[in-house]
Amino acid sequence: PAPVLLDCDTGIDDAIALTYLAATPAARLVGIVSTGGNVPAAQVARNNLDLCALLDLDVPVALGASAPLVEPARFAEDTHGPTGLGYASLPASDRALADRSGAELWVDAARAHPGELVGIVIGPHTNLALALDLEPELPHLLRRLHIMGGAINHRGNTGPTGEWNIAVDPEAAQRVFAAFSWAPARPVLGPLDVTEEVVFTAETLARLGAASTHPVTAVLLDALRWYVEFHEADGFGPIAHVHDPFVVAHAVTGRFARTAPLALDVELDGTLTRGQTVGDWLGRWGREPNVDVMVQADAAGFVDHLVETLGLLRVV
Ligand code: BDR
Ligand code: CA
Repeated sequence: PAPVLLDCDTGIDDAIALTYLAATPAARLVGIVSTGGNVPAAQVARNNLDLCALLDLDVPVALGASAPLVEPARFAEDTHGPTGLGYASLPASDRALADRSGAELWVDAARAHPGELVGIVIGPHTNLALALDLEPELPHLLRRLHIMGGAINHRGNTGPTGEWNIAVDPEAAQRVFAAFSWAPARPVLGPLDVTEEVVFTAETLARLGAASTHPVTAVLLDALRWYVEFHEADGFGPIAHVHDPFVVAHAVTGRFARTAPLALDVELDGTLTRGQTVGDWLGRWGREPNVDVMVQADAAGFVDHLVETLGLLRVV
């Protein structure tokens, strides 16, 4: 199984992604970076540690930077609940943080698995950008980087044009896209255009509930109840957009999205559009493509796969 480093801001859909990585035989999680985003970094780290304990996952969990590179920190408790996990309360564990920063864990994991590590970012890019300062060769050490982020030909979810993971720390995201334009394999980007096709309904929640008797299932369902209420209050009806596990499952299996090469950059200066991801579909900039962006999703196939994979979790 491929070694994977997960950089996340857990977060309801991040928690599902982490659980998926614990369950799938196709990946071996070697580190978790806790990035501030949906909730503050310290709360993200607590969620990751307690989830790992519940999943019997022995993986280093690092605390990331407390704020984005330039802007003050902001959080999304309305979307993810006061602790980041909606109505769920995780059993408290005595798990402790790794004695390395989030940026250091990126570098350590990449150096430990040169050319093999699959890096996955499902939160803001702050810690990966800081890791690039520590190890500029990072893009060459990874097998590939996978990112949930951006809204290309789609409205944003953070202001009219921004997507959360990019808009929270646009300088960091821009630095990552620039540095990885020299990577041997283009990063795979899952933007809202495609991840919002992954819609969980009451039926999906019932299927997940029936998939496994593992206690994490009840935690995820309590979290998802909040997520559905948030989306309903936001005008989407009684559903939830579940972004992160889709990108993670595609990173691990390559099965659920069609991608297209694209030259992409992040708007830093726009007074109305700061944090927007701008894609140059017609090659007007004359730049080489720097990402493979998802353009089509097999959302139904992914949901079947998620239910099946979570069913592999064994109660210890
Ligand atoms: C992204 O923002 C977060 O709230 C989710 O966890 C996901 O990573 C979607 O824009
Ligand atoms: Ca996330």
